[in-house]
Amino acid sequence: MPKQKIVVLTGAGMSAESGLKTFRDADGLWEGHDVMEVASPQGFARNPELVLEFYNQRRRQLLEVSPNQGHLALAQLEQQFNVSIVTQNVDNLHEQAGSSHVVHLHGELFKVRSIRDENYVLDWKKDLTLGDVDYAGHQLRPHIVWFGEMVPLLETAAEITQQADILIIIGTSMQVYPAASLIHYADHQTPIYFVDPKPTVRASDFGNLTIIQKTAVEGVPPLVEELFSIWP
Ligand code: APR
Repeated sequence: MPKQKIVVLTGAGMSAESGLKTFRDADGLWEGHDVMEVASPQGFARNPELVLEFYNQRRRQLLEVSPNQGHLALAQLEQQFNVSIVTQNVDNLHEQAGSSHVVHLHGELFKVRSIRDENYVLDWKKDLTLGDVDYAGHQLRPHIVWFGEMVPLLETAAEITQQADILIIIGTSMQVYPAASLIHYADHQTPIYFVDPKPTVRASDFGNLTIIQKTAVEGVPPLVEELFSIWP
């Protein structure tokens, strides 16, 4: 019998208990920075050192943190289900936890790419500075989708979400499009589980939505246990 397909859409709240700041909570990443200065092509053109240092700080921090029990529980789901993780997060904590199919809608902190050849992507875990260049001498930049840039994997993510027998949404304020639109690609009968201590959706908004008003670490492991028991 084919395995049920579970699609998990995660946001910054998924990694909060690993020690990585979210964007819009109190003391979030955007509180200390002007988004357009550190996460936009215009900002990079205006002050590349500032942007490179912003991502260097986040890359250094990612080297120090580990997946939390929520990441690990999602990886366990693969024992019984066909699981795809569609994440807005640029950390690699889902991969570190053992999830084998992760789609990064907004890019990856441990990758960089040429400013001229967007297909020239390198694994990169150290600081990136001006003068770090590609094969043709063009500057390397973070492999991150900045505000105003296209989301190349959106269609892939939408196709995956359409296949979901179960959709789980964890730790996202649902404020950034097009990522937030993915919830509408699930069939209206598809059970949706929304895990967030301050949920921004109402159960009445969707056909089959269960809100779990807990953190990822509190709410995901019990949800995984429940899914194992419901779906033999
Ligand atoms: N467990 C689960 N959810 C949490 C936790 C936690 N421990 N702590 C906070 N949250 C929730 C918050 O309640 C909020 O709903 O996580 C969500 C974080 O929202 P944002 O900070 O807006 O992060 P996110 O939704 O991922 O932002 C989307 O915006 O700035 C861009 O590219 C950036 O990918 C990011 C996108």
